[in-house]
Amino acid sequence: MKIGILTSGGDCPGLNAVIRAIVLKGTSVYSQQFVGFRDGWRGLVEGDVIPLDRHRVRGLAKQGGTILGTSRFGPYEGPSGGPENIQKTLDRLGVDAVIAIGGEGTQAASKRLADAGIKIIGVPKTIDNDLGATDYTFGFDTAVEIATEAIDRLRTTGDSHKRCMVLEVMGRHVGWIALHSGMAGGAHAILIPEQPVSIDQIVTWVESVRDRGRAPLLVVAEGFTLDTMDEAYSTKGLDGFNRPRLGGIAEILAPMIEQRTGIESRATVLGHIQRGGVPTAYDRVLATRLGLAAIDTVLAERWGNMVALRGTEVQVVGLDEALGELKTVPQHRYDEAAILFG
Ligand code: F6P
Repeated sequence: MKIGILTSGGDCPGLNAVIRAIVLKGTSVYSQQFVGFRDGWRGLVEGDVIPLDRHRVRGLAKQGGTILGTSRFGPYEGPSGGPENIQKTLDRLGVDAVIAIGGEGTQAASKRLADAGIKIIGVPKTIDNDLGATDYTFGFDTAVEIATEAIDRLRTTGDSHKRCMVLEVMGRHVGWIALHSGMAGGAHAILIPEQPVSIDQIVTWVESVRDRGRAPLLVVAEGFTLDTMDEAYSTKGLDGFNRPRLGGIAEILAPMIEQRTGIESRATVLGHIQRGGVPTAYDRVLATRLGLAAIDTVLAERWGNMVALRGTEVQVVGLDEALGELKTVPQHRYDEAAILFG
């Protein structure tokens, strides 16, 4: 069999470790051949491939990014998109099956293609850790490590200047990175999209920290919005037309806190630093185990499935399971962190 691998959506530390594990086991145990599609679905739709063998994947477990490239291009885009055209392209390339490594959008597209007869299986990926069918995704642990180190560093400079430091981390829809890094770093408040919190509550937390003679440190997920967002935006001079679509919330909060408390405040947006560089050992191991399970799943011809971490075991689940609700931070996890706020 010749198997094609693609990485799609935002990149994530651990992608190369998945590719390495698939190719190493697929060649040494199963004697299969491999190609990589360049830049996610675009490479599949346009038939743009690179050869993959055990020499090409050597040493990749620790390398960040993806050697295949990635994009947000979808498999139904362009004149060559859609299952019929994709099957023709696969036939022309002699590719029998596809392993698609990606987040929710990728798994949704894989499901549609599998339903249309394409031999495809999924590997979950997102630093946000919001995919429902799997307990953890690789990349998340690395992002939390990076965010925690940022908190530790912000704390010393914040303490020196007696400033309120507001750190914005990734998390478009969910607050897992904010919750875990905030707990690990001992943040005085954690603000996440799942939990509405008023500016008055934030001010209360900040002032109680200040009253104990400490410098307040807040972690906010990029998808967090205040219940009084209009006030927040008007403080920044933004109206309905020039508001940021996403992110920048730390830069809105810091001046509001300064205005209301009189505490000098600074915002830091960590951004894509959370997605770059070497994966942690945990993420390398998780990515490797998912890659090994993915090639087993292909050889078992279990199309339309995804490999997933359930508890401590890697299992095979239906792609449709990955497409339910996003995995949000449950109330009790937020509450246990919130006991320590202020
Ligand atoms: O989905 C992962 C994620 O890191 C989000 O947290 C973030 O909003 C988004 O990707 C950023 O994507 P881009 O790389 O397109 O700016």
